[in-house]
Amino acid sequence: MLILLPFLALLTTSTAHPPSREHAKANDGLTFLGIPYARPPLGDLRFAPPVPLDQSRVNIEAKAILPSCLQYFTASPANAFNQDVLEYNLGGRNTTGHMNEDCLTLGVWTPTTSSHRSRATESHRKRLPVIIFIYGGGFSTGGQDVPYQKPTQWIQRTRDHIVLVPNFRSNIFGYPSAPGLAQQNLGTLNIRTVVEWAKANIAAFSGDPEHMILLGQSSGSMSIDWYTFGFYDDLIVTGVIEDSATGFTEGFTRAEGDTYNFTYVAESVGCAGYGEDSTGLLACMRKVDALVINDFVEKVQRAGQLVFYFVPVVDEKLQFANIPERALQGKQAKIA
Ligand SMILES: *[C@@H]1O[C@H](CO)[C@@H](O)[C@H](O)[C@H]1NC(C)=O
Ligand SMILES: *[C@@H]1O[C@H](CO)[C@@H](O)[C@H](O)[C@H]1NC(C)=O
Repeated sequence: MLILLPFLALLTTSTAHPPSREHAKANDGLTFLGIPYARPPLGDLRFAPPVPLDQSRVNIEAKAILPSCLQYFTASPANAFNQDVLEYNLGGRNTTGHMNEDCLTLGVWTPTTSSHRSRATESHRKRLPVIIFIYGGGFSTGGQDVPYQKPTQWIQRTRDHIVLVPNFRSNIFGYPSAPGLAQQNLGTLNIRTVVEWAKANIAAFSGDPEHMILLGQSSGSMSIDWYTFGFYDDLIVTGVIEDSATGFTEGFTRAEGDTYNFTYVAESVGCAGYGEDSTGLLACMRKVDALVINDFVEKVQRAGQLVFYFVPVVDEKLQFANIPERALQGKQAKIA
């Protein structure tokens, strides 16, 4: 099947050679997996805002979920999320699952039903509403590859909506709080890039770009609540659904300029001695193997002896110290 995106990229998917269970059953709908939405955040783009892709004339094999963003196996404290539903651990295998620093891809799950088909052919004006799902995981874990969150059965049950699920950077790669960066909330900017991608492209999947909502769970819910402040005057989506946290949930932000945790990592992975030279420090940190950084952050957090975390930074651009005040100033999106 070929789908022509507005920017002329050719998107292919196939039911002939199912690469995964998503394609195995005819009534599972059509899934388009592993679509890149930004340039790989590698090299100079590590710790940098997402760069949207020019995908004109690109042939995308949208057949399988590609690796999740870097994270690590969350085993403790033992709770329902790592004992039962395995939300914190990818692939449902109680292990980390496939991951890579090159992770900025998304998947689109669409229903195939007779009603949907007839709608699509009889009237191109009738498009399906779109839910963009922002997963939780404490700004540290999560991805498209969390089995119970895959929307296959959901879209086939309603047969009336489309679900888009992106990967986005988290932990030190998403919220580094490093000295010298103009933007610290890279995970948030990833979410924004995804919304912009959906606005431009979702019609090619029978989605309605005028009827998209963000659905967030846990830290994903905090992110989309904050999104209604950070992008209040250009929301793009028409609604948000917040599940299990809000922008008022405490303990998940960091003051701007609090770069100690980043510097602690840098000094431990071979980037010590830069002092005030943040340019040199960042250049060094962009050359370190991403897995070395990821492993070190895991080691320190697992040891549990130091206060140590990477979360959204209160920069007064995307993240605000006083959101009630912003609301009183009218700087919160007016949505249902
Ligand atoms: C997952 O791993 C943890 C830590 O090794 C263990 O306690 C837990 O029982 C495992 N859960 C499942 C469902 O295998
Ligand atoms: C991490 O940052 C927190 C908050 O500033 C601080 O209390 C803690 O000491 C830092 N830990 C390390 C290892 O730098």
